[in-house]
Amino acid sequence: MAPVDLSVNLAGIPLRTPVVTASGCFASGQEVAEFVDLRQLGAVVVKSMTMEPWAGKPSPRMVETPSGMLNAIGLQNKGVEHFLQVDLPWLNSQRVPVIASIAGNTVQEFMYVADALRRAPGVVAVEVNISCPNLEDHGRAFAMRPEPTLNVMRKLRSSTDLPL
Ligand SMILES: Cc1cc2nc3c(=O)[nH]c(=O)nc-3n(C[C@H](O)[C@H](O)[C@H](O)COP(=O)(O)O)c2cc1C
Repeated sequence: MAPVDLSVNLAGIPLRTPVVTASGCFASGQEVAEFVDLRQLGAVVVKSMTMEPWAGKPSPRMVETPSGMLNAIGLQNKGVEHFLQVDLPWLNSQRVPVIASIAGNTVQEFMYVADALRRAPGVVAVEVNISCPNLEDHGRAFAMRPEPTLNVMRKLRSSTDLPL
């Protein structure tokens, strides 16, 4: 029997299937590659990355609740340079499209990361993690109000040609 064609077009990006990973649940892909054939995914959405390395929250970072679990990792990551130098070449060797998830404390930090990713090979789109606290708005997450959301997205639109 012929295999089912699951291919989709997402904002102009051809994906072989609409199944992509959730940011942070798949690290940079390498950590889970022995369990999952990455080539069967539409894309890997990597852990959100920031301008500089972030240490994340102290432990405990997860608690079980009656209806599931809560986590507060605090966006621990090694920063965009590490992603470009180490994680991305490995992901490209796996021939899987990469959606880069970006985060920051300020609009400037988001823009720095988007700019650094501008011509990164294999990065097909940028996912903007606007659930980060915005230090320029009393620490409220960007996504909590329309204006900061519009502001960061508009600035990022001018920083990158990649789908956001
Ligand atoms: C351990 C862990 C780390 C996560 N890290 C990130 C992250 O770095 N960036 C991000 O945008 N979301 C992060 N998330 C959120 C997930 O991408 C996803 O949105 C969340 O788990 C809800 O998915 P669901 O709606 O399918 O349940 C993380 C989730 C978990 C459990």
